[in-house]
Amino acid sequence: MKKILLLIAVTITLFVKAQKFQNLALTPPMGWNSWNTFATNINEKLVMEIADDMVKSGMKDAGYTYLVLDDGWMAMERDSITGNLVPDPVKFPNGIKKVVDYVHAKGLKFGLYNCAGTKTCAGYPGTRGYEYQDAKQYAAWEIDYLKYDWCFTEGINSKEAYTTMSKAIKAAKRPIIFSLCEWGTNSPWEWAAPVGQLWRISGDIYNCFDCIKDWGTWKSLGVTHIIDSRKNIRQYAGPDHWNDFDMMEVGHGMSVNEDRAHFTMWCMLASPLIAGNDLRHMTKETISILTDKDVIAINQDKRGVQAYLEQQQDSVDTWIKPLADNELAICFMNRSQKPVTVSYNFQQHPVNDTVSNTVIDFAKTSFTITDVWKKVKAGTTKKIFSAIVPPHDVVLLRLKPE
Ligand code: GLA
Repeated sequence: MKKILLLIAVTITLFVKAQKFQNLALTPPMGWNSWNTFATNINEKLVMEIADDMVKSGMKDAGYTYLVLDDGWMAMERDSITGNLVPDPVKFPNGIKKVVDYVHAKGLKFGLYNCAGTKTCAGYPGTRGYEYQDAKQYAAWEIDYLKYDWCFTEGINSKEAYTTMSKAIKAAKRPIIFSLCEWGTNSPWEWAAPVGQLWRISGDIYNCFDCIKDWGTWKSLGVTHIIDSRKNIRQYAGPDHWNDFDMMEVGHGMSVNEDRAHFTMWCMLASPLIAGNDLRHMTKETISILTDKDVIAINQDKRGVQAYLEQQQDSVDTWIKPLADNELAICFMNRSQKPVTVSYNFQQHPVNDTVSNTVIDFAKTSFTITDVWKKVKAGTTKKIFSAIVPPHDVVLLRLKPE
């Protein structure tokens, strides 16, 4: 009897697990999305220019692969005869396949946006009731990524709606990353691992370090508010199923320090790295932040562990991300407007992380330290580590067993 029950359990698990295409995002997806800078002002020329600059700027070489068009790519109505989605004829006079082909020819991948409701958040046709038809259309256009939003969904069950779309993608037989965007409203981390590769955990980001932007009926959140918004969900993230802290605002109005802190924290939190700035006009500083291979390597670490907050002291957070091969990343993030000197005695901060099963006693094991942004060796864990963390900035360390 026990054996039969076990067999049933294994079959069910395999069946549920097999729901989405597997292994499309073993490390957090990296790319670019149009929304933060362009909202619905998108068109064929913009896509081509962004694709060109993704390559020219070094973003592609750094790992940014997906070029995703957010809300606003469609005409206001579906085709009256077929019911198919129609691209806006003025913005995309040559259709979607033309831009997909252009992006693919650059060695990049292409994504689109739609919504589980009757309309998208900007009022274009939503997918409700057209899931299988739209998935077929996306497969025919050869897209690689679908962001799926949650406006106009009154009375709809979130898990069911996202599961239906996930199944529709599978049925259309083209491996497409499925990015759930229901803002964490129905705790997707608890049920979405078999459904998609990433799920938003919060409302929309706003390009400030620690403000909240009140739009009347809803609010968008500065960087620290998103970081703080979900304290206890890191155990749900891992290879092929990520907590999504939203598209980034690096290079879109914050100071260089703030951009560095924002980017570093998205890397520490194993968040997808989806840039949201205008890639055609980047400062040297923006490019150097977004393409820093050593910082990105922490985000893309194959172990896929989301960092935990180890302590908060004198306005400085200490975040720890266990990495592959017994390495560790440690980030000191200064929330205040003044420089703060940190003095960190590793011996007094053993690692005991039950989520990743990482136990380190620095009295027994010694590590060499590299300052990841400065690219210099910074001693070992045998000594007290000391550094000044500038306002709204970070010091990021990588530790390697000696
Ligand atoms: C919602 C999403 C955003 C963006 C807009 C588009 O607000 O959370 O990321 O996709 O809709 O309308």
